[in-house]
Amino acid sequence: MWQRPLPPDIVRLSPEETDARIATARRCLGSDLLVLGHHYQRDEIIKWADFRGDSLKLSQIAAQHAQVPFIIFCGVHFMAESADILTGGKQTVILPNMGAGCSMADMASIRQVEECWRDLATAVDTSRIIPITYVNSTAALKAFVGRHGGAACTSSNARRVIEWALERGDKLLFFPDQHLGRNTAVALGFDPEADMLLWDPHLPFGGTTVEAVRQKKILLWKGHCSVHARFTVEQIRQARENYPDVRIIVHPECSLDVVRAADMNGSTEFILKTIAEAPAGTIWGVGTEINLVSRLAREHPDKTIFCLDPVVCPCSTMYRIHPHYLLWAMEALMRGEVVNQVRVPPEVAADARLALDRMLQMGRSD
Ligand code: 13P
Ligand code: SF4
Repeated sequence: MWQRPLPPDIVRLSPEETDARIATARRCLGSDLLVLGHHYQRDEIIKWADFRGDSLKLSQIAAQHAQVPFIIFCGVHFMAESADILTGGKQTVILPNMGAGCSMADMASIRQVEECWRDLATAVDTSRIIPITYVNSTAALKAFVGRHGGAACTSSNARRVIEWALERGDKLLFFPDQHLGRNTAVALGFDPEADMLLWDPHLPFGGTTVEAVRQKKILLWKGHCSVHARFTVEQIRQARENYPDVRIIVHPECSLDVVRAADMNGSTEFILKTIAEAPAGTIWGVGTEINLVSRLAREHPDKTIFCLDPVVCPCSTMYRIHPHYLLWAMEALMRGEVVNQVRVPPEVAADARLALDRMLQMGRSD
């Protein structure tokens, strides 16, 4: 996504000067502005958030604040799109840096998903397939799912959404994250070999066969998160060797072997809550993005909390929300100017909303 360069006078500001100007802008904008911050945002951003949370919680908060005209979403593009859809286009949703996308969301385009659906129709009756999209996807994909009787899900309610889908159809097509789909289906008792197949959008007929499509119940899209792909079973083994009492908690975007080797898995909100509520003195090896892990470690000095990956790397797209961009978006609002509005076309938003509303009606399952 395209982001225009920031004015040089903003880029040159020191962190202290930036903070002072953000504070002034925040005061001026008052109750006209809601700032939302995803758990993976850096501290310099999260400190300005009126609410922080995982993607489901932030979508719900956006929808509950219909009276606030401007929402600055410090997260990634699909989250801002979801907020725009759920607020019915009545509020202005701003993403401070348009370059803040999600590499996983980019792994499934609407063209690829429609092509897959046409291919599947040559093998089975697609009206018996329920499509499910992880919210980490474009609005166009959510609209596709809404049109075809499916629902969106997040890592905090994937279990409930998959159960719901299997009550309504014979099979489900889960995209774009194969790992969340596989981990959740395994937790529900499905077998990764016998019940699931992987659809590779870059291969003819997804790299699979008509027989496999007819046979398997869970059709998984070949997409993944490059941040969570870094976690390995070896890191968990090492952590257990270093700290025999360690508890391992990972995000379900990690691979099945990592989730199986961990003690528990769940959304960013689940990870945060579990560690926050754990007794003092406990030790936690965490498999998720570094900004959240480091913040947890700072906020709970009575516990030992560390990231499983020693060569930690942040989510590079979340990291694109630098305080200079937040300041730029806020100061523009003070001048009565809107920059970086995320606007889903109404015809796409209507179908996408069906998918999101079906998900929201189901609530959390973690
Ligand atoms: P949550 O839904 O847990 O916030 O996760 C979003 C995400 O992008 C994780 O990589
Ligand atoms: Fe996307 Fe992974 Fe970043 Fe989450 S951590 S926003 S899934 S790239």
